[in-house]
Amino acid sequence: MAAHPPAVSASFARAPVVGSVAGMAMELRDSHGRVMRDLRVSVTDRCNFRCLYCLPETEEAANFYRTRWAGSNGGLPAARPIAYEWKPRSELLSFEEIERVVRLAAALGIDKVRVTGGEPLLRQGVESLVASLAGIPGVRDLAMTTNGFLFASKARSLRDAGLQRVSFSMDSLDPANFRRMTGRDGLAGVLEGIRMAKDLGLAPVKVNAVVIRGMNDHEVEDLAAFARDEDLSLRFIEFMPLDSSRAWQRDLVVTGAEIVARLQSRWGLVRVHAPDRPSETARRWSFPDGRGEVGVIAPVSEPFCGHCNRLRLTADGKVRTCLFSLVEHDLRPLLRGGGTDSDIMRRLVEIVAGKEAGHRIGKPDFVQPARTMSCIGG
Ligand code: 5AD
Ligand code: SF4
Repeated sequence: MAAHPPAVSASFARAPVVGSVAGMAMELRDSHGRVMRDLRVSVTDRCNFRCLYCLPETEEAANFYRTRWAGSNGGLPAARPIAYEWKPRSELLSFEEIERVVRLAAALGIDKVRVTGGEPLLRQGVESLVASLAGIPGVRDLAMTTNGFLFASKARSLRDAGLQRVSFSMDSLDPANFRRMTGRDGLAGVLEGIRMAKDLGLAPVKVNAVVIRGMNDHEVEDLAAFARDEDLSLRFIEFMPLDSSRAWQRDLVVTGAEIVARLQSRWGLVRVHAPDRPSETARRWSFPDGRGEVGVIAPVSEPFCGHCNRLRLTADGKVRTCLFSLVEHDLRPLLRGGGTDSDIMRRLVEIVAGKEAGHRIGKPDFVQPARTMSCIGG
């Protein structure tokens, strides 16, 4: 006999927007009036890349901002590798557990789901998770963020499983600089992944580039030109203090405004407005000839917390209400301890109620979270 029969009826689980438990209407509304619609699900904390702003391979890479670090080759003789400890398999949510949380979150109004990592394609069988998430009523947008290295080989099965969109992370178009930034000779593989996503119609294909002064800021125009040539959407992201080595400093951030000014002087871009998407994080521009698009995501210089509708689930089952949250809310005790669907929904509602007003980057009381983007999920 099941210890706890679900208190939430099957018909209720199909409710498209606002759920109810015991007749009480419920949605994921926080105390600042923001309603959560977007859930990012990290499926692994592991990664096959070693981006220096996330999981640097060596102490030299981690300290790139202090030394004249020449890259993964240049630092070799003295290289001191950093050993990361990954979460053991038993601590990660199973696909069934993830599917359950997403289904309950969807019944509470979540309609956008993004599968992330670490590198999500390292999680074995991720295609079958995508298929089950695609079947959840209420999920109208299912996307993935990947570094793209393994994407080409899995693209077709992901598309067939129901993946609708994909965002690639690609910070450089120069193979040597790509290697310096990610610790891997991966540019050709990523470009192949991007081509495959376009061929398969996983549109709009997005590419994210984190811009760090002195590392890849000289490539901003080349990256924008790539977006235009390939007719895709490129987003420049401000470097955020989420790196494992705490190398972040304000003067390494190239602001969105600076990037836009540079691109404007070259191309005369046309602003793209999306009044129907108030919680969009990017400010976007199109090229005068209508091919491709560029955007800036400027969480550091122009915080958009006031419109945030995002919630995050880590690979080990913790809910985070902000990238910069200092507390995490563990769902595993409920998931593994016989919690009913309504228990979990109530818990989600309670967690969201406590969502922080916004991040404190640049404020004297700012404290960097203990976990990096590879654990939190972008
Ligand atoms: N600052 C900004 N963006 C980051 N990402 C990872 N770490 C950082 C950081 N410290 C980006 C990745 C990826 C997305 C999930 O987040 O490059 O595109
Ligand atoms: Fe991997 Fe993404 Fe972190 Fe790079 S930023 S190391 S690709 S998780």
